[in-house]
Amino acid sequence: MRHFPAFLDLSGRTVLVLGEGAAIDAKAALLTSAGAVLRRAPRFDPALLDGVALAIGADAPEEDLRALSAEAQRRGIPVNIVDRAELCSFITPAIVDRDPITVAISTGGAAPTLARMIRQRIETVLPPRLGALAALAGRFQARIRRALPDLAARRRFLDAALAGRPADLALAGREAEAEAAFAQALERAEAPRTGSVFLVGAGPGAADLLTLRALRLLGEADVIVHDRLVSAEALDLARRDAERIYVGKARADHCLPQEEINALLVRLAQAGKRVVRLKGGDPFIFGRGGEEAAALAEAGIPCEVVPGVTAALACGADAGIPLTHRDAARMVTFATGHTRDGRLDLDFAALARPAQTLAVYMGLATLPALHQGLVQAGLDPSTPAAIVENGGGAQPRALYGTLASITAEAPGWASRRPALVIVGEVVALRSGVEAIAAHAMA
Ligand SMILES: C[S@@+](CC[C@H](N)C(=O)[O-])C[C@H]1O[C@@H](n2cnc3c(N)ncnc32)[C@H](O)[C@@H]1O
Repeated sequence: MRHFPAFLDLSGRTVLVLGEGAAIDAKAALLTSAGAVLRRAPRFDPALLDGVALAIGADAPEEDLRALSAEAQRRGIPVNIVDRAELCSFITPAIVDRDPITVAISTGGAAPTLARMIRQRIETVLPPRLGALAALAGRFQARIRRALPDLAARRRFLDAALAGRPADLALAGREAEAEAAFAQALERAEAPRTGSVFLVGAGPGAADLLTLRALRLLGEADVIVHDRLVSAEALDLARRDAERIYVGKARADHCLPQEEINALLVRLAQAGKRVVRLKGGDPFIFGRGGEEAAALAEAGIPCEVVPGVTAALACGADAGIPLTHRDAARMVTFATGHTRDGRLDLDFAALARPAQTLAVYMGLATLPALHQGLVQAGLDPSTPAAIVENGGGAQPRALYGTLASITAEAPGWASRRPALVIVGEVVALRSGVEAIAAHAMA
């Protein structure tokens, strides 16, 4: 960014306006509307700069404009010569005026026409009475501060009021009614509140695979309680001042035991917080979302679940593997390779049946046991299979082969990133999808 944007308070301050003509008259009119006291002159004289806060020139002889620029800069007075970037110490933006709201647009002097085009677009999307709405909020500012000392509560109230009934009325020009609706909303907001928890699926990694609902809730949350699998990219979309609590979970590296996570969620909600429990993928697919929802229900805390794109879907997409296919798989099973008491507790007889796809989460460490169980149940070890790493995230990778070959190659291939095992004829039907770096082919 070449120029630092700032809004100057010029009310009651003297501004030198040098020149005579349409361009400088337009600047003079704007300065007057900002409350500046104009000192107008057709020609330059250094004494004109005494006591001025700002200087603007146009429509004057070249030597006068140059002298104004040099002398003002020598004295440290901000100076602008219209359409002469090389003589300016500040530039003036294109503006959209919805007093007291001002939108300023700059292209850093590179393409003023583009700035004007952007301004036209913004003009069309900002309601003409937006200024009245801002003024209404301004009149309530002190009262809101007193009524809602907590910053998060204030923000939540304003988010709702400025998008709700008071706003509709103000934008329709019904100012007295808008004022009353705003006051009522504030009274309601002062009442003590119970918090709520949203179990939100963050998807497999890429921020643009979040749902719109997840995005909105991230923008409204007071606290985000998140896992290892939630990407930094997705977390970045949360409100800047939201508290972030990491509760971990890598295999065998449970940062907080599940019972403590449940208790934490209950505690935060009981303190009146709006909590987003952000989980990789979907909260209800191997995400222990069910346990958290049950604990919240037991404590009487309102809870809502927001689905996310689960790893199997993202991995299938990135690796070009359709999880179902009319010719190859009429069903798909999501299974876990996680062991209880060291045993892979899966119904291998069911999983080894033909015409289906098997997607195994947390299946890398137990891949030899999966291979053994499936083959003993009758599945051909040459069945197409793949391991997909970081599907739907940054730089996904895949190892394509057969159940036997990926089992043999996995230890030398895998990294520490999350990976999913896919077994079934569909792997052989994959299309040439660009998202993936294929390591080996069957
Ligand atoms: C505890 S489970 C959580 C699954 C998550 N709730 C979901 O719906 O995707 C974690 C396992 O999901 C799989 N996984 C999660 N994200 C992945 C990704 N981006 N690519 C591949 N596998 C992933 C891995 O097998 C990882 O060990």
